[in-house]
Amino acid sequence: MNNKPTIWAIIPAAGIGSRMQADKPKQYLSLGGRTVLGQSLHRLTSHAAISGVIVALAENDPWWPELEQDATCPIITTMGGDTRADSVLSALDTLAEHVKDAWALVHDAARPCLRHSDIDKMISVLLPDSAGGILGMPTNDTMKRVNEQGSITETVSRQRLWRATTPQLFRAKALQDALISAKEGGQFVTDESSAMELAGYQPLMVEGHADNIKITLPQDLALAQYYLQQQGVK
Ligand code: CTP
Ligand code: MG
Repeated sequence: MNNKPTIWAIIPAAGIGSRMQADKPKQYLSLGGRTVLGQSLHRLTSHAAISGVIVALAENDPWWPELEQDATCPIITTMGGDTRADSVLSALDTLAEHVKDAWALVHDAARPCLRHSDIDKMISVLLPDSAGGILGMPTNDTMKRVNEQGSITETVSRQRLWRATTPQLFRAKALQDALISAKEGGQFVTDESSAMELAGYQPLMVEGHADNIKITLPQDLALAQYYLQQQGVK
């Protein structure tokens, strides 16, 4: 009998990329011979442990139909929402219509440099029994808290302080419930783990590679291009 848990990837890709200030959403800018979303999607569809992908898109997204499709696993699209959490919840609703008892590996469209080895590490640490967890990195910089005027009021110890990134891997049903109760409770969550934490779970932090950057500002594209070259992509 095969007891290996089923893992589906979820890609929130319904944002507008306002900080990028480009002429289209940042996930559709060119990078290493694909688009940013094309790279992120390929990282997931080409991983043997991923059974399929749900992509949350903005309403009437004109760029998605033009995206190159070379995946061998199913890709299902769904409509995203006003916030990232809404987009992820919409994708989880769609996933629940297709698959029961899956794990959801949520990964930002804007993180195109994700390594297969980091996905492998998450799966080996978190499956089959944990409450789930996320990929992150310890902070290297000295951390300061400032007041509204920008004056430093405190040096925050960076001991045990980590940067949260994606993927974030949870049982799909538990995550769906957690996001619904955060929404109903009026809690604004910026990542899946926050919703799970509010629901009483203690997700695990899995140390990832520092090149898993999120494309946010114009200069991030050149850095991502460099990291992809380092990884031998192009
Ligand atoms: N996202 C989404 N639905 C939203 C907002 C964001 O699916 N309503 C997705 C983005 O497409 C991105 C990921 O969530 O892949 C991380 O969000 P972020 O980096 O903040 O992207 P944007 O919201 O598009 O950028 P910005 O905040 O600069 O406008
Ligand atoms: Mg945003």
